[in-house]
Amino acid sequence: MSELLIATHNAGKLREFAALFGPLGLTLHTLADLGITADVEETGTTFAENARLKATAYMQLSNLPTLADDSGLEVAALDGAPGVYSARYGGVTGPAQLAYLLQQMQGIPFHQRLARFVCVIALAHPNGTLELAEGLLHGVIEEQPRGTGGFGYDPLFYVVDEDCTLAELPPERKNAISHRAAAACAAYPVLQQWQAQGWL
Ligand code: IMP
Repeated sequence: MSELLIATHNAGKLREFAALFGPLGLTLHTLADLGITADVEETGTTFAENARLKATAYMQLSNLPTLADDSGLEVAALDGAPGVYSARYGGVTGPAQLAYLLQQMQGIPFHQRLARFVCVIALAHPNGTLELAEGLLHGVIEEQPRGTGGFGYDPLFYVVDEDCTLAELPPERKNAISHRAAAACAAYPVLQQWQAQGWL
Protein backbone atom coordinates (compact mmCIF):
# COMPACT_ATOMS: atom_id res chain seq x y z
CA MET A 1 0.00 0.00 0.00
CA SER A 2 1.23 3.51 -0.88
CA GLU A 3 1.60 5.42 2.37
CA LEU A 4 2.71 8.98 3.04
CA LEU A 5 2.91 10.88 6.31
CA ILE A 6 1.83 14.52 6.01
CA ALA A 7 3.81 15.95 8.93
CA THR A 8 1.65 18.87 10.01
CA HIS A 9 -0.51 19.73 13.00
CA ASN A 10 -2.50 22.11 10.75
CA ALA A 11 -5.82 20.57 9.59
CA GLY A 12 -6.20 23.14 6.78
CA LYS A 13 -2.85 22.21 5.23
CA LEU A 14 -3.74 18.53 5.46
CA ARG A 15 -7.01 19.09 3.56
CA GLU A 16 -5.17 21.04 0.85
CA PHE A 17 -2.54 18.33 0.37
CA ALA A 18 -5.18 15.57 0.44
CA ALA A 19 -7.09 17.30 -2.38
CA LEU A 20 -3.97 18.01 -4.46
CA PHE A 21 -2.49 14.51 -4.11
CA GLY A 22 -5.88 12.73 -4.44
CA PRO A 23 -5.18 11.33 -7.95
CA LEU A 24 -2.09 9.48 -6.67
CA GLY A 25 -4.31 7.21 -4.55
CA LEU A 26 -1.97 7.39 -1.57
CA THR A 27 -3.01 6.56 1.98
CA LEU A 28 -2.20 9.75 3.85
CA HIS A 29 -1.36 9.63 7.53
CA THR A 30 -1.25 12.54 9.94
CA LEU A 31 0.94 13.02 12.99
CA ALA A 32 -2.19 12.68 15.14
CA ASP A 33 -3.15 9.35 13.41
CA LEU A 34 0.23 7.92 14.30
CA GLY A 35 0.17 9.28 17.85
CA ILE A 36 3.25 11.46 17.19
CA THR A 37 3.14 14.43 19.53
CA ALA A 38 6.77 15.55 19.25
CA ASP A 39 7.27 19.08 17.94
CA VAL A 40 10.37 19.46 15.78
CA GLU A 41 12.01 22.84 16.35
CA GLU A 42 12.42 25.02 13.27
CA THR A 43 16.01 26.04 13.95
CA GLY A 44 16.99 26.54 10.29
CA THR A 45 17.68 29.90 8.65
CA THR A 46 15.95 29.01 5.37
CA PHE A 47 12.56 27.53 4.47
CA ALA A 48 14.34 24.59 2.81
CA GLU A 49 16.39 23.85 5.92
CA ASN A 50 13.31 23.89 8.17
CA ALA A 51 11.28 21.73 5.79
CA ARG A 52 14.18 19.25 5.57
CA LEU A 53 14.63 19.17 9.37
CA LYS A 54 10.93 18.42 9.90
CA ALA A 55 10.58 15.85 7.09
CA THR A 56 13.69 13.95 8.22
CA ALA A 57 12.79 13.96 11.93
CA TYR A 58 9.20 12.81 11.37
CA MET A 59 10.31 10.19 8.80
CA GLN A 60 12.66 8.78 11.45
CA LEU A 61 9.89 8.76 14.06
CA SER A 62 7.34 7.10 11.75
CA ASN A 63 9.58 5.07 9.41
CA LEU A 64 7.24 6.21 6.62
CA PRO A 65 7.88 8.37 3.54
CA THR A 66 7.17 11.85 4.93
CA LEU A 67 6.19 15.27 3.60
CA ALA A 68 6.83 18.42 5.62
CA ASP A 69 6.59 22.05 4.56
CA ASP A 70 7.76 25.42 5.73
CA SER A 71 6.40 28.71 4.49
CA GLY A 72 6.35 32.42 5.11
CA LEU A 73 6.26 35.93 3.73
CA GLU A 74 9.22 37.78 2.19
CA VAL A 75 8.97 41.56 1.71
CA ALA A 76 11.52 43.02 -0.72
CA ALA A 77 11.72 46.46 0.98
CA LEU A 78 12.46 44.72 4.30
CA ASP A 79 15.31 42.66 2.85
CA GLY A 80 13.19 39.52 2.80
CA ALA A 81 11.79 39.86 6.36
CA PRO A 82 9.83 38.39 8.05
CA GLY A 83 10.96 35.28 6.10
CA VAL A 84 11.47 32.17 8.22
CA TYR A 85 10.41 34.22 11.26
CA SER A 86 6.93 34.94 9.79
CA ALA A 87 5.06 33.08 12.53
CA ARG A 88 6.66 35.15 15.30
CA TYR A 89 7.53 38.41 13.52
CA GLY A 90 8.09 41.31 15.92
CA GLY A 91 7.65 38.92 18.83
CA VAL A 92 3.88 38.99 18.35
CA THR A 93 1.32 36.60 16.85
CA GLY A 94 -2.16 36.97 15.36
CA PRO A 95 -3.60 40.32 14.19
CA ALA A 96 -0.88 42.25 16.05
CA GLN A 97 1.52 40.97 13.36
CA LEU A 98 -0.37 42.90 10.70
CA ALA A 99 0.00 46.12 12.70
CA TYR A 100 3.70 45.39 13.24
CA LEU A 101 4.30 44.77 9.52
CA LEU A 102 2.43 47.96 8.58
CA GLN A 103 4.50 49.92 11.07
CA GLN A 104 7.73 48.55 9.55
CA MET A 105 6.51 49.61 6.10
CA GLN A 106 5.29 53.08 6.97
CA GLY A 107 6.08 55.59 4.20
CA ILE A 108 7.05 52.94 1.63
CA PRO A 109 5.11 53.70 -1.59
CA PHE A 110 2.89 51.11 -3.35
CA HIS A 111 5.38 50.30 -6.13
CA GLN A 112 8.05 49.40 -3.55
CA ARG A 113 5.79 47.13 -1.48
CA LEU A 114 6.46 43.97 -3.49
CA ALA A 115 6.31 40.74 -1.52
CA ARG A 116 6.04 37.01 -2.02
CA PHE A 117 4.85 33.99 -0.12
CA VAL A 118 7.28 31.09 -0.26
CA CYS A 119 6.58 27.44 0.49
CA VAL A 120 9.17 24.67 0.45
CA ILE A 121 8.05 21.07 0.68
CA ALA A 122 10.57 18.42 1.73
CA LEU A 123 9.97 14.73 0.98
CA ALA A 124 12.05 12.35 3.07
CA HIS A 125 12.13 8.61 2.34
CA PRO A 126 13.32 5.95 4.82
CA ASN A 127 15.86 4.84 2.16
CA GLY A 128 17.71 8.16 2.71
CA THR A 129 16.38 10.03 -0.31
CA LEU A 130 15.43 13.68 0.23
CA GLU A 131 13.72 15.90 -2.36
CA LEU A 132 12.71 19.57 -2.18
CA ALA A 133 9.95 21.41 -4.08
CA GLU A 134 9.32 25.16 -3.96
CA GLY A 135 6.26 27.29 -4.69
CA LEU A 136 5.88 31.08 -4.85
CA LEU A 137 3.01 33.56 -4.87
CA HIS A 138 3.80 37.18 -5.76
CA GLY A 139 1.89 40.16 -4.40
CA VAL A 140 2.00 43.64 -2.90
CA ILE A 141 1.61 44.64 0.76
CA GLU A 142 -1.50 46.78 1.19
CA GLU A 143 -1.59 49.85 3.43
CA GLN A 144 -4.65 48.55 5.30
CA PRO A 145 -5.97 45.04 5.91
CA ARG A 146 -8.89 43.93 3.70
CA GLY A 147 -11.00 40.76 3.92
CA THR A 148 -11.77 38.20 6.56
CA GLY A 149 -10.79 34.89 4.93
CA GLY A 150 -7.56 32.93 5.16
CA PHE A 151 -5.07 33.42 7.98
CA GLY A 152 -1.82 35.13 8.88
CA TYR A 153 -0.81 37.94 6.51
CA ASP A 154 -3.62 37.26 4.01
CA PRO A 155 -5.55 40.55 4.65
CA LEU A 156 -2.45 42.59 3.69
CA PHE A 157 -1.41 40.51 0.67
CA TYR A 158 -2.80 42.00 -2.56
CA VAL A 159 -2.71 39.67 -5.58
CA VAL A 160 -2.58 41.69 -8.81
CA ASP A 161 -4.16 39.04 -11.08
CA GLU A 162 -7.10 38.62 -8.68
CA ASP A 163 -7.42 42.37 -7.88
CA CYS A 164 -8.03 41.65 -4.20
CA THR A 165 -6.23 40.47 -1.08
CA LEU A 166 -5.84 36.77 -0.29
CA ALA A 167 -8.28 37.28 2.59
CA GLU A 168 -10.93 38.43 0.08
CA LEU A 169 -10.64 35.33 -2.11
CA PRO A 170 -12.90 32.28 -1.68
CA PRO A 171 -10.85 29.53 0.01
CA GLU A 172 -10.97 27.27 -3.09
CA ARG A 173 -9.44 30.06 -5.17
CA LYS A 174 -6.72 30.79 -2.61
CA ASN A 175 -5.91 27.08 -2.42
CA ALA A 176 -5.63 26.92 -6.22
CA ILE A 177 -3.13 29.81 -6.56
CA SER A 178 -1.25 29.57 -3.25
CA HIS A 179 2.47 29.06 -2.76
CA ARG A 180 1.56 25.75 -1.04
CA ALA A 181 -0.40 24.59 -4.11
CA ALA A 182 2.54 25.55 -6.34
CA ALA A 183 4.97 23.63 -4.12
CA ALA A 184 2.60 20.63 -4.05
CA CYS A 185 2.44 20.68 -7.88
CA ALA A 186 6.24 20.62 -7.96
CA ALA A 187 6.27 17.73 -5.45
CA TYR A 188 3.66 15.72 -7.39
CA PRO A 189 6.02 14.29 -10.05
CA VAL A 190 8.50 13.29 -7.33
CA LEU A 191 5.79 11.23 -5.63
CA GLN A 192 4.79 9.75 -9.01
CA GLN A 193 8.40 8.77 -9.59
CA TRP A 194 8.64 7.20 -6.12
CA GLN A 195 5.52 5.17 -6.94
CA ALA A 196 6.97 4.07 -10.30
CA GLN A 197 10.16 2.96 -8.51
CA GLY A 198 8.13 0.97 -6.00
CA TRP A 199 9.22 3.28 -3.14
CA LEU A 200 5.62 4.13 -2.24
P1 IMP B 1 4.22 27.65 8.58
O1 IMP B 1 4.60 27.12 7.24
O2 IMP B 1 2.92 27.07 9.04
O3 IMP B 1 5.34 27.53 9.57
O4 IMP B 1 3.93 29.21 8.34
C1 IMP B 1 4.69 30.21 8.98
C2 IMP B 1 3.99 31.53 8.97
O5 IMP B 1 4.00 32.09 7.65
C3 IMP B 1 2.52 31.52 9.36
O6 IMP B 1 2.36 31.59 10.76
C4 IMP B 1 2.01 32.79 8.69
O7 IMP B 1 2.34 33.93 9.46
C5 IMP B 1 2.83 32.84 7.42
N1 IMP B 1 2.10 32.20 6.30
C6 IMP B 1 2.42 31.05 5.67
N2 IMP B 1 1.53 30.78 4.69
C7 IMP B 1 0.62 31.78 4.73
C8 IMP B 1 -0.56 32.03 3.97
O8 IMP B 1 -0.99 31.29 3.08
N3 IMP B 1 -1.22 33.16 4.31
C9 IMP B 1 -0.81 34.01 5.29
N4 IMP B 1 0.26 33.80 6.04
C10 IMP B 1 0.99 32.69 5.76
